[in-house]
Amino acid sequence: MPLPIQAFFVPLLFFSSIASAAVVEHIFQVKNVVVKPLCKEQRIPTVNGSLPGPAINVREGDTLVVHVINNSTYNITIHWHGVFQLKSSWMDGVNMITQCPIQPRNNFTYRFDITGQEGTLLWHAHVVNLRATLHGALIIRPRSGRPYPFSKPYKEVPLVFEQWWDADIELLNSRPAPISDAYLINGLAGDSYPCSKNRMFKLRVVQGKTYLLRIINAALNTHLFFKIASHNVTVVSVDAVYTTPYVSDVMILTPGQTVDALLTADQPIGTYYMSISPYTGANSIVPVPPSNPTQSLIIYEGAKSTPSPSSPLMPSGRNAISTAHRFSSNITSLEGGPYWTPVPRHVDEKMFVTMGLGLNPCPPGTKCIGPFGQVYAGSLNNRSFVIPRTISLQEAYFYNISGVYTDDFPSQPPMKFDYANFRVRTNSEYKMMFPERRTSVKTLKYNSTVEIIVQNTGIISAESHPMHLHGFNFYVLGYGFGNYDRIRDARKLNLVNPQMHNTVGVPPGGWVVLRFIANNPGAWMFHCHMDAHLPYGIIMVFVVQNGPTPNTRLQPPPSNLPQCTRDPTIYESPTSNNVDLFY
Ligand code: C2O
Repeated sequence: MPLPIQAFFVPLLFFSSIASAAVVEHIFQVKNVVVKPLCKEQRIPTVNGSLPGPAINVREGDTLVVHVINNSTYNITIHWHGVFQLKSSWMDGVNMITQCPIQPRNNFTYRFDITGQEGTLLWHAHVVNLRATLHGALIIRPRSGRPYPFSKPYKEVPLVFEQWWDADIELLNSRPAPISDAYLINGLAGDSYPCSKNRMFKLRVVQGKTYLLRIINAALNTHLFFKIASHNVTVVSVDAVYTTPYVSDVMILTPGQTVDALLTADQPIGTYYMSISPYTGANSIVPVPPSNPTQSLIIYEGAKSTPSPSSPLMPSGRNAISTAHRFSSNITSLEGGPYWTPVPRHVDEKMFVTMGLGLNPCPPGTKCIGPFGQVYAGSLNNRSFVIPRTISLQEAYFYNISGVYTDDFPSQPPMKFDYANFRVRTNSEYKMMFPERRTSVKTLKYNSTVEIIVQNTGIISAESHPMHLHGFNFYVLGYGFGNYDRIRDARKLNLVNPQMHNTVGVPPGGWVVLRFIANNPGAWMFHCHMDAHLPYGIIMVFVVQNGPTPNTRLQPPPSNLPQCTRDPTIYESPTSNNVDLFY
């Protein structure tokens, strides 16, 4: 075995009185172990010693209980990416938004129900960049007796895409993030990397059978294309929402997105590469490594070892942008399928949110390598989010503690400009590049329908950003390039069967239109899921107020919710700077 996999997690099942709902219990022991996917040994934090971490399997309606035991040297939280957390927002696991971190030698138990959603999601650490190695699959199957809305696959196969730095994990704290050395599929880099020949994930298939691939992009910073030589797949779900079956030879996933796709072994008996490669078409400021694709292998039963496997041709250059756009914008939701609900037509809160990069002033006496000699920043409506330091935002909200945040996050950018084609020509345009550093939230009435037009600005770079909303799925009514036009583009929105997501890739220099119903009280982050952009502050928080009944009110925090310590050193890793201790 290539990695020291000692997945000793024990899923314990207790059947409760409600028919078919169970309590699924896991122990997550966070500890540092040594792994060697490429040529060098690296010491990394893991859950239960494995990379990726253990997969969690539940059924819709179950209660998930995870005991996190922090035996690592890092502060930890675990976030259940895409889980609605209905009435359990304290369990969202976001450092300094819903809780203070679990400190080394401490424990915390996450406990929540999984209701109203099925498909593939992921869990990951939500503290600095620790999700690089602390992540795994979270698979939600239908309650027993309920079928999938597609024919039952012969087997199900999780494919976790990861980004690997063959360096000390502390180095990831430097800005901008260093170039990664490889991508991994289920912990393995595959044939095209040094010291990794023949160490790759191998899927053995039987000709004629159909497999459900549960695909997760757990990479920190890169959108990834996925393609299988000579095979098409049928997408049946994205972000744990069923889709109209969509046949494609290629797919793209932003960091944090998931796709469930059926693969039928309908080709001649042989061996075929399944490959991932980074989406570089958008001139990212986060450096992307040279594109030798990461490979895994499909081996048909009865295949000979020669000839060598055939490789898929990965999208590149201009073709990459159009391929990505075609795949993303063609997906529709499965009208009338499980948990499907029509798009709300009435909107209570309309927001137009500019999103993109920017600059922070270079501290006096230092030399900064960003554009104009400044440091990189990012913003939403020209606000760069500053994470609270002393208490989590949700506790500050719940206990009415002032001075932690303000509730004046604007619904419009401070000024109109040619967003997608921003150029610095005047002094005021230069000033536009420096966002305000604030901890501000947008307060929403319980059950209100919110529409957000997210407009990518061309400030610094027009690259695609994957925007992720905690606690809710949103409808994606449309995607486009350039500046959103309220007349021309509004006519083209899909109000019939739009796709739903928890994470959406905003096209480079383009826009998306999102809608969601704020039916869950608490503090919910909305942020770019490129980890490198979190310290830049491409974050905002929605505070959803209480509803009218006891059942729709934010409950008090669990009594053992981790508390923040006054000792600042506990938060610091040797290389992290003061600006971004808490991400
Ligand atoms: Cu998957 Cu706030 O993250």
